[in-house]
Amino acid sequence: MKRMYEGKAKIVYQSDDPETVHIEYKDEATAGNGAMRGVIARKGPMNRDITVQLMRVVEAAGVPTHLLTEVGDRFILARKLRMIPLEVVVRNRIAGSLARRLGLAEGAPLPEPIVEFYYKSDELGDPLIVPAHAPLLGVDLETVRALEELALRVNAALAPFLLDRGIVLVDFKLEFGRDAEGTIRLGDEISPDTCRFWDAATNEKLDKDRFRRGLGGEAEAYAEVLRRIAAPRPGA
Ligand code: TMP
Repeated sequence: MKRMYEGKAKIVYQSDDPETVHIEYKDEATAGNGAMRGVIARKGPMNRDITVQLMRVVEAAGVPTHLLTEVGDRFILARKLRMIPLEVVVRNRIAGSLARRLGLAEGAPLPEPIVEFYYKSDELGDPLIVPAHAPLLGVDLETVRALEELALRVNAALAPFLLDRGIVLVDFKLEFGRDAEGTIRLGDEISPDTCRFWDAATNEKLDKDRFRRGLGGEAEAYAEVLRRIAAPRPGA
């Protein structure tokens, strides 16, 4: 397979079909734009499995994704997308950079979900932008509105699905792209690397904040998320 692109957590390979790619989920973990590096045992296969399960929930809610099939234990076959250079963050509770930026304590639920846009640029450290900046980055305002609507639909599907499994969806980051027909599809991943998942009973962190904040127990937390997502729904 020909390597097209290697990111911090995944590698994208060209497949035989020009419209599809293989994506490999790596065990390596980074934080702070690469300032912190480590390995979380079996993270790649766990994030692949969690992403596949959650993308199926998202698809069922009418949001197209890049997912085609699982391959081996740490790959997916996906539609090739032309990525839109924005990270779309949805927040249901105050945490992370929102808490830091506004000087607020982590944990309080937000009255309505908040959608934020960041410009995807390692060089600039992925700065927060306002929608009016997007056209300067080659993304028109109609696309920005579509991304906001799709991101809120993803949230409306995932938050109750996870809460049924004892997980609070605190916040998460999405990346979208366009397929060969121009349809906007969700790409990238939906995993404990890109979401904040808190245990609904204890508020224990079940996500990459364990790594970012040196709490330990990352592999166990990711395994617990996968176990709850893959298990039949309680009472069903
Ligand atoms: P933040 O609070 O640090 O802005 O992060 C918000 C959410 O986005 C959190 O669930 C983690 C996720 N995220 C990424 O997946 N990649 C990133 O580069 C950043 C900054 C956040």
